[in-house]
Amino acid sequence: MSLKVLKDLNCSPHIIEHSKAVSKKARALSQRFEVDLKLIEMGSILHDVGRSKTNNISHGIVGADILKKLGFSQEIVNITEKHIGAGIPKEEAVLLGLPFRDFLPLTMEEKIVAHADNLIHGTKEIEIDFVIDKWKMNLGNYKPSLERLIKLHQEIVGNYG
Ligand SMILES: [Fe+2]
Repeated sequence: MSLKVLKDLNCSPHIIEHSKAVSKKARALSQRFEVDLKLIEMGSILHDVGRSKTNNISHGIVGADILKKLGFSQEIVNITEKHIGAGIPKEEAVLLGLPFRDFLPLTMEEKIVAHADNLIHGTKEIEIDFVIDKWKMNLGNYKPSLERLIKLHQEIVGNYG
């Protein structure tokens, strides 16, 4: 059902395959926790639906809007809206052209989908060190977001540092 939404919105095959890989990773990461697996599965498949409209950082909020209009639950909307990186606090969000509010994953389901997405590059599983190097290249060693990434990794995977 969620995959049909991606297809109906003309998401590219690349996005669809990426979303399936994130979903698989999210299910694997869920094993250590008592979480809502149905929610994680649907949220991970739909997390990049906003990329049917834009690939920039606003795709989380754009996707959340699409899902809200389609009548998806607030939990699914939140997973989509907060999946960017390891979350973005409002002070940074506004500098990135997003509304002045927190885009931080708070529930375990939100955290697991966000981090599964971090650990998938295209359709491939990657190690956290690869993610950190990638972020350093893109963000020029911007400390707060790297710290959030490592903290999220420790919480979800539990084996860094
Ligand atoms: Fe995304």
